[in-house]
Amino acid sequence: MASIESIRFAERFNGITGSAIREILKYMTRPNMISFGGGNPAASALEEDVIADIARDVLRSDGKRILQYGATDGYAPYKEAVAGWVKELGIDCSAQDVLPVTGSTQGIDLLAKALIDPGDVVLVESPTFLGTLQAFKLYQAKLVPVATDEGGIVLSDLERLVREHHPKMLYVIPTFQNPTGRTLAADRRKPIAEMAEKYGFVVMEDDPYRDLRYAGEALPSIKSYDKAGWVVHMASFSKLISPGLRIGAAIVQEPIRQKMIFGKQANDVHSSNLTQAIVAAYLERGLMGPHVEAICKSYALQMNRMLEHLASFPDTRYTHPQGGLFIWAELPEGIDTLEMMPKAIDRGVAYVPGTHFYCEEGTHRNTLRLNFSNSTLEKIDEGMDILRSVVCEELKQR
Ligand SMILES: Cc1ncc(COP(=O)(O)O)c(C=O)c1O
Repeated sequence: MASIESIRFAERFNGITGSAIREILKYMTRPNMISFGGGNPAASALEEDVIADIARDVLRSDGKRILQYGATDGYAPYKEAVAGWVKELGIDCSAQDVLPVTGSTQGIDLLAKALIDPGDVVLVESPTFLGTLQAFKLYQAKLVPVATDEGGIVLSDLERLVREHHPKMLYVIPTFQNPTGRTLAADRRKPIAEMAEKYGFVVMEDDPYRDLRYAGEALPSIKSYDKAGWVVHMASFSKLISPGLRIGAAIVQEPIRQKMIFGKQANDVHSSNLTQAIVAAYLERGLMGPHVEAICKSYALQMNRMLEHLASFPDTRYTHPQGGLFIWAELPEGIDTLEMMPKAIDRGVAYVPGTHFYCEEGTHRNTLRLNFSNSTLEKIDEGMDILRSVVCEELKQR
């Protein structure tokens, strides 16, 4: 009899320890926990009545098509609606270029599946979204960090690394980046698209936060400068309408599109027709503009309140985002946010230790990511007071 302990898993899982965020989400369900972890929209941003009405309407008008198997490349009204919506980003695409995905998480996975063989180099911002780091690791990519500053990716470092490593892909979150909240400078966007074509690597432009802007002007996407199809743009409705609907879109041209479709066929056949129909109707009815305006108003207040608190943290540097859901903080050298975490949790506050966002594991241990969208102003006051006192106690013990 073989013991289940002797099971031989695929090598791709070596070194995969599970998402740190999932671990932290566990704490969110504790009563009275103030969570600055996660990246959830506010409960007040989720419009259950609006969505229920739309769901009933679309089922009544197109129920037989919605409830049947659909095409892998998507539900036609959704593709049309999304092609129109991304025009505002300067992306001039046809409905054909819109590949619905089950959350941009699936888009990231499909593009990785299409491109990465074990050992292939993928360039990533340093730091970057830990969910994507995990997805790339599952394809056994060699992750190489690119230096970033206030304006995002440093172009000279990018070009140096491209020449040295001949990467398959660059992964970039251009607007209100996760985890830092920073935005890729306007004058770095076109050069990235040009570099991709010059050297022949794919740019995965992951832009779920773009519309959550509280200050400054919207910037053109990297994809808007793409002439030859080297840039794949990932859009998501998770942060705008609902993460539970699990719907997003990859804006992608041939020949990459066909490979992603093959990958998707083996994955979930197609994204839910019902969710595609709901989002299509939501966009067609012009509900997005007023909704985004309303949520941005309250998120801006929440962000500013958190920034005010950070100003009184000892020797702490932090980003001043113009939008998104996150602030990134660097505590005094010597404080270890991973070790500090259980103490903060005991006092009822959760955050994400910054080290999880680096591909060089265990580094940058004095950093942390704070989410403000999912806490009321009162909870931000209470939680930040607690966090400050936890930090001060850590400092005393150094
Ligand atoms: C940068 C980034 N990409 C992708 C995702 C995943 O989004 P989705 O819900 O569309 O799968 C997130 C979610 O937090 C994110 O921050």
